[in-house]
Amino acid sequence: MKLAMATRNPAKLREIEPLFRDTPIRLATLADLDVEQRPEEEHLEAFNSFAQNALAKAEYFHDRTGLPMMAEDSGIRVDALNGEPGPRSKRFAPPEMQAEYGVDRANNLYLLRQIRDVADEQRTAHFHCAVAVVLDQESRVFGGRVDGVILYEPRGESGFGYDPLFYLPERGITTAELTVEQKNEISHRGQAMRAARDWLLEYLGA
Ligand code: IMP
Repeated sequence: MKLAMATRNPAKLREIEPLFRDTPIRLATLADLDVEQRPEEEHLEAFNSFAQNALAKAEYFHDRTGLPMMAEDSGIRVDALNGEPGPRSKRFAPPEMQAEYGVDRANNLYLLRQIRDVADEQRTAHFHCAVAVVLDQESRVFGGRVDGVILYEPRGESGFGYDPLFYLPERGITTAELTVEQKNEISHRGQAMRAARDWLLEYLGA
């Protein structure tokens, strides 16, 4: 079965691809399918809900391509910021800052600034991921979540986004210090993707 993955983010694809490697499901990206980027795509993630955003994205690209489509929406919720930035995680730092430092670095700097005065025990945060699968006759949304603490400075070189600041107290490392395989075992994206994959395999009778 060919399953299209509605993301243009190469860092996410690097994490998703290994989860489908030993299955009959072949992932095709929007780039593989020559699905041209349109300005309206910017507005697909309009909800304050990962699940609604993932479903909107999967439905939109399913309509455009007619293919079985999977989409995900993810982000970080920081307790000291009342759950912000949530689904706005990619657009958290102001555009000028993102232009100056690059998106991920700007977001990390901005987050550190926002919680500068927050004490250790209140620096808790959660990564969330929703994965939506839209087929011709069925659609489903799966979720995953991982809990951590925001450090005072970045640590680690792998991963992307807020990984260098996201500390796992029980392991004593950040998610940027995990390999792709280790991160997938515990991550919000790993949990939601595995649930989507297993549902699809059952649906296909594979
Ligand atoms: P979107 O789902 O493309 O809107 O972007 C999600 C944003 O949330 C990313 O740009 C990151 O800033 C953040 N994010 C989501 N998942 C992760 C993760 O696994 N590690 C670090 N940051 C993440």
